[in-house]
Amino acid sequence: MKSIKLMLTGISLLLLCGCGMQVQKESEATSANESKGNAVIENMMSRRSIRKYKPQAVNRDTMQIILNCGINAPNGQNKQSWEIRVVDNPEFINGLTEVYKKQNPKAAEDPNFKNMFRNASTVVFIANDKSYDLSQIDCGLLGENMILSAWSMGIGSCCLGGPARFMTSTPEAADYLKKLDIPEGYQLLYCIAFGYPDETPAAKPRNAEKFRFID
Ligand SMILES: Cc1cc2nc3c(=O)[nH]c(=O)nc-3n(C[C@H](O)[C@H](O)[C@H](O)COP(=O)(O)O)c2cc1C
Repeated sequence: MKSIKLMLTGISLLLLCGCGMQVQKESEATSANESKGNAVIENMMSRRSIRKYKPQAVNRDTMQIILNCGINAPNGQNKQSWEIRVVDNPEFINGLTEVYKKQNPKAAEDPNFKNMFRNASTVVFIANDKSYDLSQIDCGLLGENMILSAWSMGIGSCCLGGPARFMTSTPEAADYLKKLDIPEGYQLLYCIAFGYPDETPAAKPRNAEKFRFID
């Protein structure tokens, strides 16, 4: 009698395990199917940083949509701890690039070099509120919303730390920084170049070992 009970328990356990595995397999298959043909995921996975653009700036109506997507990003306590400036004025971009070239003469040796913003004709400058410890996260999420919404409309972008660092650390660039009219208490953190892509770069590999599930 005891051995029959043991056998029945064993069978039930096996059935349970099998069932669990089946459920897991089904849910994995469902996840794979859900991501296939999912426009948001496809947009995210196909995005690349673009460093070669067609000459025309992104029209302002389209930029409005991109900016609205940006400010609808999640942000700490809805403080919206950012200030955003859009520049599509060639005089600003080219004038500042001349300052940059003087400091970095090698950059201009590249025959493809047109300007210091990876040759884009529209640049968004993002400043964060220094008084809020999470403002850099707010600004990062704002930027990603802009980048992805732009990509979904065929507009390329490149997140740029270098030019912002140049502007905040080079006295010769001070006039341009001033033109951005960033309020007291905020600092220029980074910029994003936007434009119509003139290249189709391959995906850069990512290291999936950087994420783990902790049981
Ligand atoms: C905070 C930050 C700063 C960056 N600064 C620069 C930069 O100064 N110049 C540049 O060409 N790309 C810059 N990038 C773009 C990265 O090089 C790019 O995102 C990365 O190589 C991955 O390539 P992908 O965007 O095509 O996937 C920056 C990206 C981030 C997030």
